[in-house]
Amino acid sequence: MAKEYKRHTITAALPYANGPVHIGHLAGVYVPADIYVRYLRSKNKDVAFVCGSDEHGVAIELRARKEGKTPQQVVDFYHNQIKESFSQFGISFDIYHRTSSQLHHETASDYFKKMESDGKFSVQISEQFFDESEQQFLADRYIKGTCPNCGYEEAYGDQCENCGTTLSPAELKNPKSMLSGESPMMKETKHWYLPLDEYEPWLKEWLLDGHKEWKSNVYGQCKSWIDNGLRPRPMTRDLKWGIPVPVEGGEGKVLYVWFDAPIGYISATKQWADDTGKNWEDYWKSEDARLLHFIGKDNIVFHCIIFPTLLKAEGSYILPDNVPANEFLNLEGNKISTSRNWAVWLHEYLEEFPEKQDVLRYTLTANAPETKDNDFTWKDFQTRNNSELVAIFGNFVNRAVVLTHKYFEGKVPARHELMPIDNEVIEAVSKAPSKVADALDQFKFREALSNMMELARIGNKYLADTEPWKLIKEDKSRVETILNIALQISANLSIVCEPFLPFTADRLLSILNTKKLQWKAAGGMDFLSANHQLNKASLLFEKIEDKDVEKQVNKLMETKKMNEEAEKGPEVPVFKEEIIFDDFMKMDLRVGEIKTAEKVEKSNKLLKFTVDMGLETRTILSGVAKHFTAEEMVGKKVTVMANLAPRKIMGIESQGMLLFAENSDGKLIAVSPGIDAQNGATIA
Ligand code: MF3
Ligand code: ZN
Repeated sequence: MAKEYKRHTITAALPYANGPVHIGHLAGVYVPADIYVRYLRSKNKDVAFVCGSDEHGVAIELRARKEGKTPQQVVDFYHNQIKESFSQFGISFDIYHRTSSQLHHETASDYFKKMESDGKFSVQISEQFFDESEQQFLADRYIKGTCPNCGYEEAYGDQCENCGTTLSPAELKNPKSMLSGESPMMKETKHWYLPLDEYEPWLKEWLLDGHKEWKSNVYGQCKSWIDNGLRPRPMTRDLKWGIPVPVEGGEGKVLYVWFDAPIGYISATKQWADDTGKNWEDYWKSEDARLLHFIGKDNIVFHCIIFPTLLKAEGSYILPDNVPANEFLNLEGNKISTSRNWAVWLHEYLEEFPEKQDVLRYTLTANAPETKDNDFTWKDFQTRNNSELVAIFGNFVNRAVVLTHKYFEGKVPARHELMPIDNEVIEAVSKAPSKVADALDQFKFREALSNMMELARIGNKYLADTEPWKLIKEDKSRVETILNIALQISANLSIVCEPFLPFTADRLLSILNTKKLQWKAAGGMDFLSANHQLNKASLLFEKIEDKDVEKQVNKLMETKKMNEEAEKGPEVPVFKEEIIFDDFMKMDLRVGEIKTAEKVEKSNKLLKFTVDMGLETRTILSGVAKHFTAEEMVGKKVTVMANLAPRKIMGIESQGMLLFAENSDGKLIAVSPGIDAQNGATIA
């Protein structure tokens, strides 16, 4: 028997406030967390759903430096943007807090101080790179040098992005500080370490023996970490941006971001409790509370090993009961990447598909990367919308409501004598909600979603099988029964779909003209009493056209092209073979000025120019019509190869050649002497 908890403390990973959020975040963490929380609330459970922005760490400091801003300016901007995106998508946090807040600084500081005074840390001295001119120790990311593995000269202190090798800064050849560009020196520094090795036996017992029920992707990763042996890990860093180390000897140092960020869950809960008159400790220090962390797979070790060890070491906290981490979502076959702009950003989606939050929530849940990485494609997004949401869910509800308006002035008709098909459907409907609940209880969100759709399918098929529109003439009372049942199924749907599709549930309730119903009622057939007045029908979902998804795919293709070009770098053609000075002197290069320009008839390549060469005016043809309009060339100073033998092209004699530079992207630029150069002047 699973334990019945009084309270549920549900956390969703705090996103770094150094960029907007994208569909990968939503699919992996925030949508599943929100589904679960909405489900619990519908069951009337006491829930604290907390999140916030993770605003410390090297990545944010680096970003600020690059943009010429302060870290606080960077996090202020993204904190607000991220918070807004979540709220737009209906992610129903009880609080969205932030780690740069005063309350969080205090909470994390106090936590550290208690651990330190209880002797939970070991203090160790080590040697680290130090930038003399900036008077600063260098985080691994602040050091660049030559990769010992592949020779790439721009490798970072923690990783070579060329060959993928994980590095430590000391392994780099010719290391350079990214702050000053100078060679850093080695200097001793002191840090506070969490002795993870000492907690190994406890972790084996608590996690490996005690939580075999965790998802296999999570359990497997934890096991391999523990089996490989754990080492002490520093909980402090030599950085400026962060929470100052609050104990003696900690001057100039800050708390490690992975120490302070998870404590952000606690400070968020404190703030929420303050705001709502609750006691935060009920959610963190009572065995009646169930702690769950929703995260992506790159966060597993921090939430399953390091943070629990911190909680255990401090001594007064509960431990996570489960950590249903997801794998990654790819986009159109490629890994989502912020730096390569390979993503669907939430704020952009909302602009391009207004009011369609539920369609994305639906698609992301249907494809959730629950057990392995998964792929989002726009084609699938369109199909899920058109053939599932529109054709099944929307079609069913719309038929039931429209027919009720057509035949009964929008008043719910009464149910009369039941036929076998009615009983079968009523039976199936009564079982559907518990199938959804069972899957949700096991964090199987895809299965839960498909069980929810099963209910819509039952309704849709029921109307298709009974065809009330054909019966209305001869058997009105039968139609009353059918529509009553169909409307009760719609009311059931409003309960069962709400965790997944909260906006749709609201619209459905307003069409049915009834208030929100609770989970425990789901499965019933008596939500809407006879004669209850419905509101007008309106479509719950609309078809998504080919052109709408094509536009999105094209946008991605553009991005891909740009990335490929950026990676190739400018293509510099190889030089031609060497010539002697005399050969060079044979060329007569002159300054010219274009007087007239026109397109050559029947050619889409050629422009015909008349060029003032001082002594004379020449006619010159050039195959550049694709690059320039005739008009824009008039008045330009150009370089002319003046002693090239004349040549007839399309019946016109060309008396020389104009010189152009060709960029790597194929774009031509006229080689123009400055305007001071006189027409006819020689170039040598
Ligand atoms: N900011 C981290 C990330 O995006 C997640 C932090 S989760 C927390 O990977 F527990 F530390 F808050
Ligand atoms: Zn390398």
